[in-house]
Amino acid sequence: MQTPVAVLISGSGSNLQSIIDQTETGSLPVRICCVISNRPDAFGLERARKHGIEAVCIPSKGKTREEHEREVVAVLDSRGVQLVVLAGYMRLLGHELLERYRGRVINIHPALLPSFPGTHGYEDAWNYGVKVSGCTVHFVDEGCDTGPIILQAANPIEPDDTLETFRQRGLKIEHQALPEAIRLYCTGRLRIEGRRVIVEPDRSAECTG
Ligand code: GAR
Repeated sequence: MQTPVAVLISGSGSNLQSIIDQTETGSLPVRICCVISNRPDAFGLERARKHGIEAVCIPSKGKTREEHEREVVAVLDSRGVQLVVLAGYMRLLGHELLERYRGRVINIHPALLPSFPGTHGYEDAWNYGVKVSGCTVHFVDEGCDTGPIILQAANPIEPDDTLETFRQRGLKIEHQALPEAIRLYCTGRLRIEGRRVIVEPDRSAECTG
């Protein structure tokens, strides 16, 4: 059974690419119904088209959050989307989308939350001088990167790192973490209890007879 998923992006879409790649190898049980960008020039739209995935641009510029999200929700609803994945989507979500898809929206953030929320996770962690950073995949609520955490992966800083090598290694870690969180969601292994996300054991290999 393939879960219908929408991926929301604002830019390059390398995380989107990792999801596409894993669906194409069959290791991720999802069908990407559509990719939605709020920016017309997002390279991720081209990545989607190249793989025969519907790519929709819904510009956010000049619209209120409510107006923009109403358009996004109309597309999500019409495609029968079950899970919304924010993969480099650089906008806070508001009431319109979250009321309709609460508990069904996940986001990847390029730092170990609650440290360094916002739009410059790599720069902020680097400039602070942390020795270990990483990424976080979490359910989305109205706050800025505040929802319950599904998983985190570490990215220790190496002695000869620059911001760019740190970021490049971090992105590779993201490309494993986001599909893994989607897999956990789509195989029914996540349960939210307050702030905590319980990851149920994988029972797929157990004998049912
Ligand atoms: C990724 O590093 C992602 O974690 C980050 O934007 C980048 C998008 O890269 N997201 C955020 O900062 C959200 N607050 P991509 O377009 O190549 O996937």
